[in-house]
Amino acid sequence: MELMKVCSLFSGCGGIDKGVIGDFSYLEKKFARNPFEIVYAVDNDKYAVDIYNQNFKHKSVCEDIKNISEYALPDHDLLLGGFPCQSFSIVAQNPPRLGYKDERGKLFFEIVRILKVKKPRFFILENVKGLLSANKKMAFPIIIKELESSGYKLKYKVLNSFDFGVPQKRERVFIVGFRDRLDFEAFEFPKSVCDTERKVLKDVILQSVDDKYFFSEKAVAGMLRVKEKMNKGRSQNIEQPCNTISAHLAKVSLNSTDPVLEENGRYRRFTPLEAAKIQSFPDNFVFSTVSENRQYRAIGNAVPPVLMWHVIQSLISVIKSNKIKSSRSLKKITRNSTANSEVSVQYAFI
Ligand SMILES: C[S@@+](CC[C@H](N)C(=O)[O-])C[C@H]1O[C@@H](n2cnc3c(N)ncnc32)[C@H](O)[C@@H]1O
Repeated sequence: MELMKVCSLFSGCGGIDKGVIGDFSYLEKKFARNPFEIVYAVDNDKYAVDIYNQNFKHKSVCEDIKNISEYALPDHDLLLGGFPCQSFSIVAQNPPRLGYKDERGKLFFEIVRILKVKKPRFFILENVKGLLSANKKMAFPIIIKELESSGYKLKYKVLNSFDFGVPQKRERVFIVGFRDRLDFEAFEFPKSVCDTERKVLKDVILQSVDDKYFFSEKAVAGMLRVKEKMNKGRSQNIEQPCNTISAHLAKVSLNSTDPVLEENGRYRRFTPLEAAKIQSFPDNFVFSTVSENRQYRAIGNAVPPVLMWHVIQSLISVIKSNKIKSSRSLKKITRNSTANSEVSVQYAFI
């Protein structure tokens, strides 16, 4: 299969991109190389870009997406965008609109700007599940409408990484866009792996870690005094998947709601290596060129590569099946030989 060209916006340290490219091992399972090549990647966090560039042959550009001209981007078949998950502001109008004045909400429109000009065959966007209910459920329909009016048919679904062999409960919404009706009709989100392939925390935590990852006795005593009342000290059951880890992991404390581990009455945070494994990064993914705080942040922000690998298999199925369908329909169309806008779309598959 010919390699399809990919443009990766908000590439972070490369969780999505690793899953899309494939060719890695995780917990002794091999995830095959996929038929994609990344022709452009961008993120404005220089530490995340630094990690990214240690791990891929191609390079991510450290730049604010607002400074990137859509006309300067290379052509691509698939656009990826795990866009920042901050809330969108809704401007009270009739009909309501997403707030253009909100700098963070505005980043979504950077994707739309690029889609309208580059018109890739597919896009995959990822965000927190809360996007569906943001702004009293008003933001998501606006996002969908913007994407549809850019010429795409859409399918979206909340996927939990635990259902795909990742030892973490992490629910994220995936929005997949299709320029072509045949692609849209053929696409199905991936099915969960079987129960024997699911992973839990004990599959990835380390037996012995540096003392610096343990909280002080004073912090533990303080936490235990208020634990009942405040539901804090979220120690994880290692027989279960971990609760969602986030970029906040860098600042985890016993007073936050972030997951921690209890070991023989002592509490500790995860090491960066454990956090990376909880996110399903392969062991040979290099994070250590930046500080541990920067590592936690990039890791917590990422899409688990194993989850993304499963999502991209669904797209590969569509590409393969429509190649066959389109070559059949091409013969028929050639016989009838009428000017038909579908013809050019179908030629494109061959
Ligand atoms: C949710 S994270 C993406 C994680 C990435 N998809 C992965 O799987 O590793 C969002 C990213 O958007 C980047 N970002 C935020 N504002 C940006 C901007 N104005 N231009 C470019 N990147 C931006 C952040 O640095 C962050 O890495």
